[in-house]
Amino acid sequence: MNTDTPQPVRLEDYRPTPYLIDAVDLDFRLDPSATQVRARLSLRPNPASAEKDAALVLDGERITLRSVSLDGALLASDHYGVDEQSLTVGKVPQAPFTLEIVTTCDPSANTELSGLYISGGVFCTQCEAEGFRRITYFYDRPDVMARYTVRIEAEREQFPILLSNGNPRERDVIGGTTRHFAVWDDPFPKPSYLFALVAGDLGAVHDMFTTASGREVSLGIYVQKGNEDRCAWAMEAVKASMRWDEQRFGREYDLDVFNIVAVPDFNMGAMENKGLNVFNDKYILANPETATDLDYVNIESIIAHEYFHNWTGNRITCRDWFQLCLKEGLTVFRDQEFTSDIRSRAVKRIADVKTLRARQFPEDNGPLAHPARPASYIEINNFYTPTVYEKGAEICRMMLTLIGETAFRKAMDLYFARHDGEAATVEQFVQCMAEASGRDLTQFFTWYSQAGTPVVTAETAYDPARRQYTLTLEQKVKATPGQAEKLPLHIPLAIGLVGPDGEDMPLDLDGVGVLNAALIELNEQRQTFRFNNVPQRPVLSLNRGFSAPVKLEASLTFADELFLMGHDGDSFNRWEAGQRLGRSLILAAYAGTESAADAEAYAQALARILNAPSVDDAFKALMLALPTESEIAAALAADVDTDKVHAARDAVRARLARHLSGPLAEIWQRTAETGPYRPDPASTARRALRQAALALMVMGDAPRGTAWALSELASPHSMSAEIGALAALVQADGPERERELDRFHQRHAHEHLLVDKWLMLNAQCAGPGAARRIERLTRHPDFKWTTPNKVYALFAGFTGGNPAGFNAADGSGYRVVADAIIRLDAMNPQVASRIATGFRSCKLLNSIRKSAAERELNRVLAEPSLSRDVYEIVSKIVNG
Ligand code: PHE
Ligand code: ZN
Repeated sequence: MNTDTPQPVRLEDYRPTPYLIDAVDLDFRLDPSATQVRARLSLRPNPASAEKDAALVLDGERITLRSVSLDGALLASDHYGVDEQSLTVGKVPQAPFTLEIVTTCDPSANTELSGLYISGGVFCTQCEAEGFRRITYFYDRPDVMARYTVRIEAEREQFPILLSNGNPRERDVIGGTTRHFAVWDDPFPKPSYLFALVAGDLGAVHDMFTTASGREVSLGIYVQKGNEDRCAWAMEAVKASMRWDEQRFGREYDLDVFNIVAVPDFNMGAMENKGLNVFNDKYILANPETATDLDYVNIESIIAHEYFHNWTGNRITCRDWFQLCLKEGLTVFRDQEFTSDIRSRAVKRIADVKTLRARQFPEDNGPLAHPARPASYIEINNFYTPTVYEKGAEICRMMLTLIGETAFRKAMDLYFARHDGEAATVEQFVQCMAEASGRDLTQFFTWYSQAGTPVVTAETAYDPARRQYTLTLEQKVKATPGQAEKLPLHIPLAIGLVGPDGEDMPLDLDGVGVLNAALIELNEQRQTFRFNNVPQRPVLSLNRGFSAPVKLEASLTFADELFLMGHDGDSFNRWEAGQRLGRSLILAAYAGTESAADAEAYAQALARILNAPSVDDAFKALMLALPTESEIAAALAADVDTDKVHAARDAVRARLARHLSGPLAEIWQRTAETGPYRPDPASTARRALRQAALALMVMGDAPRGTAWALSELASPHSMSAEIGALAALVQADGPERERELDRFHQRHAHEHLLVDKWLMLNAQCAGPGAARRIERLTRHPDFKWTTPNKVYALFAGFTGGNPAGFNAADGSGYRVVADAIIRLDAMNPQVASRIATGFRSCKLLNSIRKSAAERELNRVLAEPSLSRDVYEIVSKIVNG
């Protein structure tokens, strides 16, 4: 371990900088191994700073300082100091001044993919969160917003395309040389993390968009040459996003151009740089031969997400990185709404809750738990988490639920009007919600500051004589690291009392009267709600639409759950009842107490849904998917044997499949493709159902299911069908599995995105030898340690998609992942630390697994020059 333990940064220590930077002039001489950057900064003392006459301390790392001039005069070296992290100029004018800094850096040696680097022969940048300091010395923090002018100079032949933020101003050849240049102007002040530059020999697709007020925007998507025919879907998504933000939020685009560049090497999904979004190419490129339905959906929503940041993130940014959820939670909320509006709202809600449960609940339930707005961090890159993003979005959604559509839109308008051009805080955002609605959101704010998923327990009683129904709710949040005591939250719970006819009864709340919104608000630790004029015993349907991100324990009977699954007017809760039933069946199988009658009743209820012509295919597909192994592990809470969980879940699925073989066969016939591939919602839903049916059939009747899968693979209709069939097939060990994986690789070895899918499917292969397979694949010529997508496909595919393999009792899974973390940390700490989060749930496991995991994590911690990134994650897991 490092001799000096990394120290945390704290929210309470926030101070404004002593100087502000109003404008930046950047001049890049691009060269793969020695790029020169000249930065001219216009500075002035910050009136908001309490410090007077302070030294100017700018951030900078991995760059070489060549010269510093102040107001045109070169500074002698005794006037400034440089170390590994900063440039300090001790005495500067207490009036506006300019500082000119010349530095050099080496993009070709940049394996962290932060700052200026080269991907596929193309120069590109990634500055969020703290990458700009690897380009030049600067106040690399979001509350310093400046106007940027950027001149880029490079070899003409190799780098014909030169892009940066804002609007293009000028471009020309440099006479008598092989070089050329371009100048870009961004009129909007922005923080350094939104800076971007791209230079290379890229293919392009162009289009136009006319904004509501008639501004013509030229749109460009830049990709590696040869991929131009895979940009049409992304371009449609750009236009749909622009239109939607105008219609739903009254927000127009504000520059003359909007460009997107897709690169093959990228740590994250995509980045919202002003006017120049940079994307991981897997979230841009699509055609029916290479992209699945899920890829199409992801591309659409990630394009929307990055585009929506233009207002929520860029025009209004964050004061400091503790406020990250101000832009991320809100922008995820906005992209979720976009997808809900253009596709199916009900299906989208279920999909989002599945993601929340698969990613955020486990985080909240273990050593990495942190509030949506953390109070401290060691490495900010570790806080681009499901809690900041997905729980952050849930908090926005709860405010919408509490104050209603009209007030919510008013609050958003107020937020844009009041804070445009500023670096804001979460408090300021919530203040707009409170002002626009007239509601007191003081207690609600605890959602931002308190970690952990609340458990809400419901007790009910029906008094037929009084025709009264009593609901007593209790909320509890268990202790999380650094937060032993928990405060009660303000929890909006959408509710229905479902009568025997399946209809909702009126909600006549004692002391209030008939509710016009079917919503109750839980504020206290324990609270009782009494409903009058309830003619019969109702079935409780609580937290409809997942109105609050809580775990609900309503202890309904098996029969009541079956009833809700078949009749609840809220489709989310129909699905939810099915999930609870599925979970109870798997838990019973795990405990060896399964009841054949229950399983049969559940299968019959499912069959009724599958056979109902009025039910949408996407919903049917969702109903067929049982809770994941990690959800089952979380429900068991302690001493988990992951092999037994895997076996129990498979046993329930197999039994279900046998009960449902008739309906599954009908689905298989009915959903055969007849026309060309289309990624529209109805076709996507049909294929989702087809694949869910296939996956179950492989479990229940292996020969038949395998035959289906093989016939699909023999002449796949689209990549969606091909991946669907292969995924179904690889669930079980067998000769077909290896043969078909090999064939897939042979067919698609030239497509880097399909090689990733192949790696991921391999990583998910359950059964003994899983770790050996991973180890073997790291030596495959198509695997590359320096390409994040390859690493995520193999290792996140393993830790997240193969719980039994990763948590193998002999520790082999932990060992292969720990080896990878150590190896990756030397080249790309952000990627290494993301892989390390795969260990976050090991405290739930039985002692043999727990100690094997700890042994490997301690081995990682013992590494001599561990990054702050990995240190923070691994030490929290070990000590948490
Ligand atoms: N801000 C990006 C997004 O959510 C994510 C990101 C973070 C990308 C850090 C790169 C680096 O849209
Ligand atoms: Zn984002």
